[in-house]
Amino acid sequence: MNHFDYRDGTLCCEDVSLTAIAQAVGTPVYVYSASTFRRHARVFREALAGLNRVHLAYAIKANPNIAVLRVIADEGYGADVVSGGEMARALAAGIPAKDIVFSGVGKTRAELTKGLDEGIGQFNLELEEEGVVLAEIAASRGQVAPAVLRVNPDVDAGTHAKISTGKRDNKFGVPIDQAPAMFDRLAPLDGINLRGVAIHIGSQLSDLSRLEQAYARVGALVAELRAAGHVIDRVDLGGGLGVPYKDGDTFPEPAEYGAMVARATEGWDVELMFEPGRVIAGNAGVLLTEVIWVKPGVTDPYVIVDAAMNDLMRPALYDAFHDFVAVTPTGERMTANIAGPVCETGDTFAMGREIDAVKSGDLAVFRTAGAYGATMASTYNSRPLVPEVLVDGDRFAVVADRIAAETILGAERVPEWLAK
Ligand code: LLP
Repeated sequence: MNHFDYRDGTLCCEDVSLTAIAQAVGTPVYVYSASTFRRHARVFREALAGLNRVHLAYAIKANPNIAVLRVIADEGYGADVVSGGEMARALAAGIPAKDIVFSGVGKTRAELTKGLDEGIGQFNLELEEEGVVLAEIAASRGQVAPAVLRVNPDVDAGTHAKISTGKRDNKFGVPIDQAPAMFDRLAPLDGINLRGVAIHIGSQLSDLSRLEQAYARVGALVAELRAAGHVIDRVDLGGGLGVPYKDGDTFPEPAEYGAMVARATEGWDVELMFEPGRVIAGNAGVLLTEVIWVKPGVTDPYVIVDAAMNDLMRPALYDAFHDFVAVTPTGERMTANIAGPVCETGDTFAMGREIDAVKSGDLAVFRTAGAYGATMASTYNSRPLVPEVLVDGDRFAVVADRIAAETILGAERVPEWLAK
């Protein structure tokens, strides 16, 4: 069931019309469907139901809004975090520390210490030295840090280069062939319980065979580590499952992924951890925007909307496609370029695309903006920080305020020696 659908000619999120949200909150604004987060969380869980021991850690980087975290935590998910800030959010949303996995290639000593303070469930080590430092800090406090070693399997995930993480020259993980020797050195240290391995080869993956290949390499590593006498009871399989952004895009269903995981991990006898982000959040949100102008262009007109690259960076950063539809379509179509007000040519959402015909003052949405949308927003061009609304049935609430440009200005100051 689609929770963003037309009723009486108006696009709604669940039982709330987007026109009503625009009137109440203004635009641009992200609008999320709580029922969609819940449904995706359940579908993903059910896809893995055949496996023995599973830990689900929602990758909160995809959409870290605290209300969203609450909805997903209520579905029994822990959190995958990559910074002290994300850890604080997960805890603030009521996710138990033991269900938090701490990933990230540049965790600082302060962040590692904070993780130990909170008693988080797992540190995913990205390099040997990080393991040594974590063990030292933990031992000095009489603690033992639960940890796994992230390996880089040297598999091309077949996704956009900027979100590919499992090739040998990417910055993530340790080379898989060096992992056994690192295990031998790290596992005996006081202060660390090195209990498994982790992997994450990229995001928006469309080809399960690449993941399966990476998992096979992890399976061989687990066997090798056990043969060397190491106790391996966890494997973190990361996130990465892609979602359709365009009509007609086909992506592996969570059930196909679940079947592949069951096949690839047969006989591993470990707790399997998963870090899904986009597959839970992507299609649970839209960016609602108002058309400011329709400006004549040389070939096609420019539809200038009040959302810009600072609100939704994905098109400018990855040439990503986000479907654009009118909130109250007339049935007429037009071919147009869609752009925001920011002073960069790259602030363009689409070129020469056939879309619903729109005019100045009309509302429209960019679809599939629930993941890596608001969380990547900035205030470039001194634009306000985009607000977020959560819809749940016929209720909605502003779950993140629009941070006014004046508020941001208020955090800046001219030093005394420059002030007149
Ligand atoms: N685990 C780790 C260690 C990760 O680095 C990521 C994403 C995930 C899990 C979640 O992956 P997902 O299931 O969402 O694919 N900003 C980019 C995506 C960056 C993904 C970074 N890592 C975009 O907008 O496409």
